[in-house]
Amino acid sequence: MRIGVAGKGGSGKTTIAATMARHLARSGLAVNALDGDPNPNLAVAIGVPAEEADRLQRVPSDELEERTDGDSSSMHFRRPFDEIVEEYGAVGPDGVRVLTMTGLLGAGKGCICGQHSAVRGVVAGLGEERPDDLTILDTEASLEHLSRGTVRHVEGLVVVVEPYFRALETMKRTVPLARELGIPSVWAMANKIRSADDEAVIRDYCERLDVDLLGMVPFDDAVVAADRNRTSLIDHSVDAPSTRAIAQAADRLTAERVAVGPQS
Ligand SMILES: Nc1ncnc2c1ncn2[C@@H]1O[C@H](COP(=O)(O)OP(=O)(O)OP(=O)(O)O)[C@@H](O)[C@H]1O
Ligand SMILES: [Mg+2]
Repeated sequence: MRIGVAGKGGSGKTTIAATMARHLARSGLAVNALDGDPNPNLAVAIGVPAEEADRLQRVPSDELEERTDGDSSSMHFRRPFDEIVEEYGAVGPDGVRVLTMTGLLGAGKGCICGQHSAVRGVVAGLGEERPDDLTILDTEASLEHLSRGTVRHVEGLVVVVEPYFRALETMKRTVPLARELGIPSVWAMANKIRSADDEAVIRDYCERLDVDLLGMVPFDDAVVAADRNRTSLIDHSVDAPSTRAIAQAADRLTAERVAVGPQS
């Protein structure tokens, strides 16, 4: 199963992607975590030690090749995913394989469309090469992942949303784009919830957009403390309300997948 995590800047995408990855890996899944943000910090949020995370390399363009299938062509790794992770990525706690996906075509080349198309191809390729894995793609804070179709090959998109107007409006623009791309499941995931009013405004938007609310994560000082200490939330506190809410949402994601059955 391949899942993308999108949402407004600072909404909590990386925290949620990383905590879901760790929790699902603990539950026994083989988990790949792809950082699609040009300013990558997923590895640290997953719990890769900071010094090791600093040494992670972005995958260079010569590891990719273009494959043509009929009228369409897409980018793929030339080598098995495990070899790519071994060389450029890291195997984090609970066996989560972490790879930094951006910068693929090198810096200074002007346009980043190539990067978007590479991420798109790699996500699709993982579905073929490792169909039983759970792959989580953390995205940058922009609608480009949707307008350029970077997340086209995920089977589910989790749109992280905070309970304030601009974040909710971002979700309102994101959901139709995701549906236009044909992503089979689009969920909202509320974050930094502090009150019943916060909950109500999120539920109201979800209802109007006809989007399923996957979970509700409270504002939690444990997230702030984990971030400050450059550690993962799940290692900082497995029992924190935020950790538990994210774990529960991750379980729901995978359970719904079982209910829906395999999708290509
Ligand atoms: N539930 C929460 N409670 C308190 N603080 C939170 C919560 N979730 C995230 N944060 C804080 O919000 C900030 C942004 O979180 P995070 O980096 O996960 O968001 P992001 O959407 O990935 O950001 P970016 O758009 O920059 O990639 C961090 O300082 C993080 O500690
Ligand atoms: Mg982020």
